[in-house]
Amino acid sequence: MFEVHDLRAGYGKIEVIHSVSINVDKNEIVCIIGPNGSGKSTLLKSIFGLIPIYSGKIIFEGKEITYLAPEEKANMRIAYIPQDENIFPSLSVKENLEIASMVLPKEKREERIINTLKWFPNLAKNGKKKASKLSGGEQQLLALARAFIVEPKLILLDEPSLGLAPMMIEEIYNHIIDINRKGTAFLIVEQNAKKALKTANKGYVLDLGKNRFEDSGEGLLNNQEVQRLYLGG
Ligand SMILES: Nc1ncnc2c1ncn2[C@@H]1O[C@H](COP(=O)(O)OP(=O)(O)O)[C@@H](O)[C@H]1O
Ligand SMILES: [Mg+2]
Repeated sequence: MFEVHDLRAGYGKIEVIHSVSINVDKNEIVCIIGPNGSGKSTLLKSIFGLIPIYSGKIIFEGKEITYLAPEEKANMRIAYIPQDENIFPSLSVKENLEIASMVLPKEKREERIINTLKWFPNLAKNGKKKASKLSGGEQQLLALARAFIVEPKLILLDEPSLGLAPMMIEEIYNHIIDINRKGTAFLIVEQNAKKALKTANKGYVLDLGKNRFEDSGEGLLNNQEVQRLYLGG
């Protein structure tokens, strides 16, 4: 459904991603793990069209989309949730969702907001609250809800569990699993690898901008070399 072939990308002349290949099948949760600075965020930014791609190919539902602009990728129902600044802190929860719904036809917006709040009861309770007043975990849920509102086919998700307590990480991943069951594929990058790999159908290890390992989530969790190098032994 979504394929990345030999992607090279970076900032100006500095190549950060060196020939990375990834496959996400329909309805899969795929996770890319790797140490800080390995290029995880850079990879998602280049896939979404935010920074230059030097070579390689990206295919989505059989069409080449390598050099399409972010808006065009969004129109094909690919959503991107950045690591930082993924909500509007000074606006309320409801306003954050209203802005995210603007890409939908006018008559569909209200219905999608109501439906999204059903999937996120903790946000529904806090509709009028300023996003900056939410806990870190709730803010991450709001970012997820903002993507979910447009019924994406694929969500590119950057470090959903960064800085969160284990219970909150559990809740975020439960939402990811629910959304996935409804028919959305995920490509998630995480440094906090264990929870992500437990959830994922398939995983990749990215190190210094290159694919190092590829296996089922379970396979990577049980791989001794991966454990030693990337999962803290
Ligand atoms: N805006 C930028 N300009 C130049 N280099 C950058 C920029 N952002 C990140 N980098 C570099 O790209 C590499 C990968 O960073 P990043 O993709 O953020 O890694 P990760 O998300 O895995 O922690 C790092 O060496 C980082 O210094
Ligand atoms: Mg990052």
